[in-house]
Formats: sequence, C-alpha cells, structure tokens
Amino acid sequence: MSTSTATPDASFTLDGEDVPFRPGETILQAAQRAGHYVPHLCWHPEFHPHGSCRVCTVKVNGRAGAACTVQAAAGLAVESSTDELNAHRKTLLQMLFVEGNHFCPSCEKSGNCLLQATAYEAGMEGPHFEEFYPDRPVDASHPDILLDFDRCILCELCVRASADVDGRNIFAIAGHGIDTHLVVNSPSGKLGDTDMTLADRAASICPVGVILPKRRGFAVPIGERRYDVKTVAEPGNQEAS
Ligand code: SF4
Ligand code: FES
Repeated sequence: MSTSTATPDASFTLDGEDVPFRPGETILQAAQRAGHYVPHLCWHPEFHPHGSCRVCTVKVNGRAGAACTVQAAAGLAVESSTDELNAHRKTLLQMLFVEGNHFCPSCEKSGNCLLQATAYEAGMEGPHFEEFYPDRPVDASHPDILLDFDRCILCELCVRASADVDGRNIFAIAGHGIDTHLVVNSPSGKLGDTDMTLADRAASICPVGVILPKRRGFAVPIGERRYDVKTVAEPGNQEAS
C-alpha cells in the first residue's frame, strides 16, 4: 500500500507503543529506526527486502505479514512480541538449525552469527527436531575465501550483493524444496574459478558462517565478538554485517 500521504509525524503502534515512520518505510525499517527489535534474518538495510525467512512475521491489524515487506501506514496496530509469534519464530529457527550443520562451539562465526544471536534472543535451548546433517563439500579452492555450504540459510544476501553491488553474479540458488542449495556460478562450480575478491560486498555479507575469509577466523577472540558484547535486540546491533 502506498504511504505517499504519510506525514513525518504519522505513526503506527508496535506492541502498543507508538512508532513514527517516514513515507515509504516498511514496518521493520521504522521499528528498527525507533530502536525496537523485530527478529529478522534475510533482511538487510542495504538491500531490497526478500521476504523469505519469515522470522520477522508480525500481525498487522490481526493479519500475519512479513515486517520487512509490509509498508508502514498510519494507525496500523502491529503485534510482534507475542507468545504466539515468538513460538512460531522459535520453531522456524529450530528448523533452520536442523536443516544445516550449525555446530556453534566449533564455528568461527560464533559470536558474529545472526542466526545464533537470534536463536539466543528467542530463548531457543535445543534443536527440538531431528537433525538432517547435510554433507556438502567445503569449497577451499579460492586463495582467500572459504565456503562451508552446510551452514547456508538461503537468505540470498550473497546472491543480491554479488549481483547488485559487485556486478559479478557469483552466487545463485539452485534446486527445489528440500534440495534447495547455494551454488557458485563458474565452469567448475568452484569459487577458485571466479574473480571474487575479499573486497567484494558478497565476501562480508553472509549472516552465518558460509562465506569466510581465510586466515582470520579467530582474530577477534570468542567472548569479545559483536553478539557476545551486546545482544541482537539491543539498539545499534540489529543489522546483519
Ligand atoms: Fe545467505 Fe550466507 Fe547462504 Fe549466501 S551463503 S544465501 S549470505 S546464508
Ligand atoms: Fe522478513 Fe526474512 S527478515 S522475511
């Protein structure tokens, strides 16, 4: 719905609190700017919303919608932190955890991982479902970048970053349903056969531990990392890297 008639003072309520918004903002953008946390994984402020993870699902005047795609409008009553929605979010997170291999204690992204931080915030204490334990080979063919495909949550941020910012189209999503997976667009399917560099936006956008710079894994010690220091819900710490 267009918000072109919204004034700078227009607002909606989020869990009963007034949230002002600017014309064109989504509920998530306005909430975030006002310092409210709405859980999210596939949204990133630099990119058009993708609306795929559904972790940001809220109720807007009683109807479920993705906060990252629904436009803010004056007078909307938005519910986010309810028992029902938080339980659904926790289930989504548990499904993501069992779909991949997310062994946080041994992952070099631990403490900087949006999935891990979001799960902590959601109070997730275990996977609940049976793990799939996928077994996709790690791609270490690139001199500076490692790919661990088994941690991919299919947010497509790397796809968007490589296409829209880097202009290289190095990543794509292939397959359907349970076989959906990330692929590298090169003749061999290996990252070493691409012209990707560490300076590419796609090299630093991954919210989990798939796209990793080599030889830097533990430069910042565990315990001193972004989400070790502040929770993902704290203002200023809510965006993906
Ligand atoms: Fe998202 Fe990372 Fe998977 Fe790319 S590799 S789709 S950024 S989780
Ligand atoms: Fe809105 Fe993923 S953050 S659907």
